Amino acid sequence: MKILGIETSCDETAASVVEDGVRILSNVVVSQIDIFAEYGGVIPEVAARSHLEAILPVIRKALSDAGCSWDDIDAIAVTHAPGLLGSLLVGTLTARTLAILHNKPLYAVHHLKSHVYANWIDLNRQSRPTSSPSKPESIDALPLKATKSRPESDNCAEPADDTSVNSLRHFVGCQEDRPNDYHPTFPLLALVISGGHTQILYMQGHNQFEIIGTTNDDAVGECFDKVAKILGLPYPGGPSVAKAATDGDSKKYKLPHPKVAGLNFSFSGPKTAVLRAVQKEVCVPSSYPSHKLKELLTPQQVANFAASFQKTAVDILIEKLKMALELHPETKSIVVAGGVSANGELRNEMFRIFPSGRNATKLENLEVSNGAYSDIPVYFPSPSLSGDNGAMVAAACYYEIQSGAEPVDPYALNIYPRISIEN
Ligand code: KG4
Ligand code: ZN
Repeated sequence: MKILGIETSCDETAASVVEDGVRILSNVVVSQIDIFAEYGGVIPEVAARSHLEAILPVIRKALSDAGCSWDDIDAIAVTHAPGLLGSLLVGTLTARTLAILHNKPLYAVHHLKSHVYANWIDLNRQSRPTSSPSKPESIDALPLKATKSRPESDNCAEPADDTSVNSLRHFVGCQEDRPNDYHPTFPLLALVISGGHTQILYMQGHNQFEIIGTTNDDAVGECFDKVAKILGLPYPGGPSVAKAATDGDSKKYKLPHPKVAGLNFSFSGPKTAVLRAVQKEVCVPSSYPSHKLKELLTPQQVANFAASFQKTAVDILIEKLKMALELHPETKSIVVAGGVSANGELRNEMFRIFPSGRNATKLENLEVSNGAYSDIPVYFPSPSLSGDNGAMVAAACYYEIQSGAEPVDPYALNIYPRISIEN
């Protein structure tokens, strides 16, 4: 079964053809990072406008890279929730129109489900080369008629940060080693960490999602982005903080862990803690304009703050995951999903703590703290599939169909900018 997956929930216009939920035949991602770097964040109206310009060329390229005509496509899957309203509208209206025109069944997929199912995609089983799945396309490289002038260089950030290059190697290593049907087993815990969400999900089987932990305020990715702003690091903040952290001392600044009961998170605390620590370090009062703090910081201080914050964020995530495991000792595997799963420090730390399976065997000089979690394999998507992409939408759709999901009415499909994964 070949499914065309379409994703436009935030600032990536993406389409992909995936076979049987696991084999990528094409994967085209046009990122708007180069546009929003200028503003330091996403402007929803601009994002929607850019999707409009890119969506048809992106879909056309996904089909041609896959060597597919419309006749070869069995279904269309599109992200309908959650996300930016205008962005979701462009993707869903396009998918609805194409489904009607080409008489294809249309499926609506929740964005967080897609992130989770990126862990089922098997890069090993690509049956033809994809269009550079590890790097988003530059919008300028596509045959667009109506593009505005944009920076020449394709300065779209790699979904994986520099420090995760090693993890990528380990991941690729593990992919090479593993049998083709090597997939996460149920029941499992999914740590979903993105720009808009931070959740721990409990899954007893395919398409059964129970939220057992969520953030009370900011999402962890949002917190990376805000800390980057305080430190004067470029948008998007996650990869910038991770890159700066490589030269920093993570023990330099002690940032408190928020005291949140149960499995819930809070990331507004660590963000404010960074702000206060920076103010203290450069000796200014809390009334000092935060956008000017960066001018007072040395590159080494920036690196130390980035490393200290990253370590705190990673520790908080893992702390809660360990608590979730205590509550669900029957857990058979852990999957990590969403843009922040590209973080190299998180990958390394997770593989250190959960040294099971092929994910960990390639890590050298590992200091395994104890054997408590040695039998729980941890899955990360390929860093190229950590961020938003169409392949994960197609993969999630495949497993929804397997679980008996029915196509939606292409004349009536709605969007839900804030709906929960449990609905
Ligand atoms: O899943 P995603 O691409 O979009 C949403 O669904 O929100 O996640 C984007 C988030 C951003 O906050 C970005 O800063 C963060 O993921 N991110 C990272 C890294 N790469 C992306 N955070 C930490 N380390 C990274 N390497
Ligand atoms: Zn996402």
